[in-house]
Amino acid sequence: MKAHIVTLPGDGVGPEVTAAAVAVLKAVAERHGHVFAFEEQLIGGAAIDACGEPLPAAALAACQAADAVLLGAVGGPKWSDPNAPVRPEQGLLALRAALGVYANLRPLQVHPALAELSPLKNERLQRVDVLFVRELTGGAYFGARTRSADAATDECKYTVAEIERVVRRAFELARDRRRQLTSVDKANVLETSRLWRSTVQRVAADYTDVTVEHQLVDSMAMLLLTRPSAYDVVVTENLFGDILTDEAAALAGSLGLLPSASLGDGKAGLYEPIHGSAPDIAGKGVANPVGAILSAALLLRHSFGLDIEAAAVEAAVDAVLRDGPHSRDIGGSAGTTEVLAAVLAALDALADSATAFPSGARACG
Ligand code: NAD
Ligand code: IPM
Ligand code: MN
Repeated sequence: MKAHIVTLPGDGVGPEVTAAAVAVLKAVAERHGHVFAFEEQLIGGAAIDACGEPLPAAALAACQAADAVLLGAVGGPKWSDPNAPVRPEQGLLALRAALGVYANLRPLQVHPALAELSPLKNERLQRVDVLFVRELTGGAYFGARTRSADAATDECKYTVAEIERVVRRAFELARDRRRQLTSVDKANVLETSRLWRSTVQRVAADYTDVTVEHQLVDSMAMLLLTRPSAYDVVVTENLFGDILTDEAAALAGSLGLLPSASLGDGKAGLYEPIHGSAPDIAGKGVANPVGAILSAALLLRHSFGLDIEAAAVEAAVDAVLRDGPHSRDIGGSAGTTEVLAAVLAALDALADSATAFPSGARACG
């Protein structure tokens, strides 16, 4: 297939991990006979420095015309003055809104080879396989804000339509998995959460084959630590999803491991690791590229329908997490490019073994 991918490396470790993800996509294209055209654009602090705004019109137009967008990370201390008139993160939020990518998929699995790194006991990590579906274009992130000398407000607003479309997407995803949906809210306090819960209850009538439960977000934060393997698809609003998925990443061993896919109603999507610009390690060549590389795999699957290619990338990452080399955040000493080289080598090795044993038979011994 032919496709046009816009890359937005952004700030901090963003360019380092995006370069790794692009290298993997180029290797996939070459091996499978696809033509991917890449176009790099500015976002975040890099865009503020170059043009004074965090999402220049040219970058937005390119993203809107693209088949998929691959983003690194935005933000950093240079642009974090609380009184700054404009912030890198505004560029990312504007992009999510403009692309209409309301459903942010954040899969969590715990690789057995990394179980020792998790703060949780090994037995609690068996069979952890959760898909978080975070609402991405509503709630407190997009409400009106006020600020005076001694007070501030952030409006949290949701419409039924905004809730219903992301909840339906979560139900559909649950149907392709273990058919369990956990909806997370704060319905004991927040009106938006009561609207959320009643919308989930109404929509559930269309998905009677999916088991639904409701959890309050404070309790869910605890349950993720005590019985993470009990959850299949978890759907929640924007802010709760942001917080719960960083917690989930810690279970997996590092924030550097988790990918995400942000989807709307069309095929095009925005793909980014869930981590930020990691200012403490930026520029050192040590960032873990796995979250970005797995985001590229999600791009292949969700925007291009290339399931075999996506699975090959995931299998290559799986092999590297099993055999090393590992980056520092997961207990190793390898740099970003060393991990990338190992993923590319694993991709080659897996493809060669698939050719040698085309029926799926495994070599003996
Ligand atoms: P962060 O995710 O950047 O870093 C948190 C910790 O995780 C740091 O110790 C960092 O070194 C580590 N880490 C993150 N990614 C890693 C990787 N790939 N490999 C190894 N270690 C990794 O969070 P923060 O420090 O709270 O935020 C820094 C900046 O990033 C802020 O400006 C924030 O707004 C921004 N941010 C951007 C995004 C995004 O662009 N999607 C996401 C989260 C945070
Ligand atoms: C994320 C980030 C962003 C968010 C920030 C940078 C706006 O934390 O993608 O998880 O809060 O959505
Ligand atoms: Mn976040």
